[in-house]
Amino acid sequence: MKLENLSEFDRRCLEEAIQLGWKGDSRVHPNPRVGAVIAKEGEVIGRGWHRVRGEAHAEIDAINQSQSSLDGATVYVSLEPCDHHGRTPPCTERLLKEGVGRVVFAMADPGPGQGGAQRLREEGVEVIGPVDSPSAKRLLAPFLTHTTKNRVHLTMKWAMTLDGRIALGSGDSRWVTSQESRVHAHRVRSQVDGIMVGAGTVLADHPSLNVRHELDGPDPRPIIWDPKGRLNSKNVEETWWQSMLEREAIIVSDQGESSFLEVLPWNDGEGFSEALLERGFHHVLVEGGAGLLGTFLDLGLGDDALVYLAPKVCGGKDSLSPVGGVGVSKMDLAYGLKEMEVMPLGPDLLIQGSFE
Ligand SMILES: NC(=O)c1ccc[n+]([C@@H]2O[C@H](COP(=O)([O-])OP(=O)(O)OC[C@H]3O[C@@H](n4cnc5c(N)ncnc54)[C@H](OP(=O)(O)O)[C@@H]3O)[C@@H](O)[C@H]2O)c1
Repeated sequence: MKLENLSEFDRRCLEEAIQLGWKGDSRVHPNPRVGAVIAKEGEVIGRGWHRVRGEAHAEIDAINQSQSSLDGATVYVSLEPCDHHGRTPPCTERLLKEGVGRVVFAMADPGPGQGGAQRLREEGVEVIGPVDSPSAKRLLAPFLTHTTKNRVHLTMKWAMTLDGRIALGSGDSRWVTSQESRVHAHRVRSQVDGIMVGAGTVLADHPSLNVRHELDGPDPRPIIWDPKGRLNSKNVEETWWQSMLEREAIIVSDQGESSFLEVLPWNDGEGFSEALLERGFHHVLVEGGAGLLGTFLDLGLGDDALVYLAPKVCGGKDSLSPVGGVGVSKMDLAYGLKEMEVMPLGPDLLIQGSFE
């Protein structure tokens, strides 16, 4: 079923449910981010989302928030209601107990909770779904990657000027984008459980890799990509090493003297995203620089892209573009993106898409 084929009211409620799902941060992992809206007689009576793994699923959270009886109500949810006993009881049982009359959901559950739609239909509930929605796909993409592909989900992120520069030849790079974009990027940091930067970026910027701008989400665990072992105690500030040690950072390296951090071998990317999942990561934000992003795309290690585009031009032949590596040899071999979304953020544009 296509989103456009829903009634105006159903579409608005389902879209709101999907947006609510984004309120979940990395504390939901390995569960999916899910949002839910409950409506009755043309009015929204409950809203909820999955906040922390082990706690109420979105439908149950919305039921708990709603003031009136749910008899005959419609529940809108970004993911098919679950039908299994995991850390919490099946959502289907609670929906049936409350007398819900209709369920509209965006994405079918590929995980252990699948079968909820069928169960509800068998019990006489009108069920509409799956409904094809690009924003639900984006919301649930990390969950789909680790459930169906058994590896971590990698989001390639960069901030650039209109002429495609991420830093000047002098090394100056702060800041490319506006405050609005930086707040958004920090919110994204709270939704991932790992954040990765390359050795060149560490040497240039000593990035904090945490969640700031008065957001209260959890900090992701840092992953430092240093395959050639360039980083050492002489070229990197001690306070930076200390903060990485306290945050249990992982260093991806085949050599070097940084072994006081947990080391993950690089092995030219062989088995890398599976190894990250084994170490408890589900969604990792790959924040650059150019060497890291280029190498990952050359190896096919990139699920989607998150690009902040600032309305300015730097020029200069020495300023850096976002993606290095070897790149492609012909334009028709360029890494394509699908399901593109563009959104204004203050003076900037946020451009998102999934690699084909
Ligand atoms: N605007 C943004 O979004 C943004 C984000 C992050 C960083 N930056 C900027 O980007 C700049 C840093 O970028 P960068 O490209 O120099 O550094 P980087 O990507 O952070 O790190 C590159 C490191 O990886 C190594 N490397 C590169 N390709 C490799 C490969 N195929 N196999 C093994 N190792 C490889 C490099 O070694 P070699 O040095 O030997 O090549 C270098 O040690 C800084 O100026 C930073 O401010 C901007």
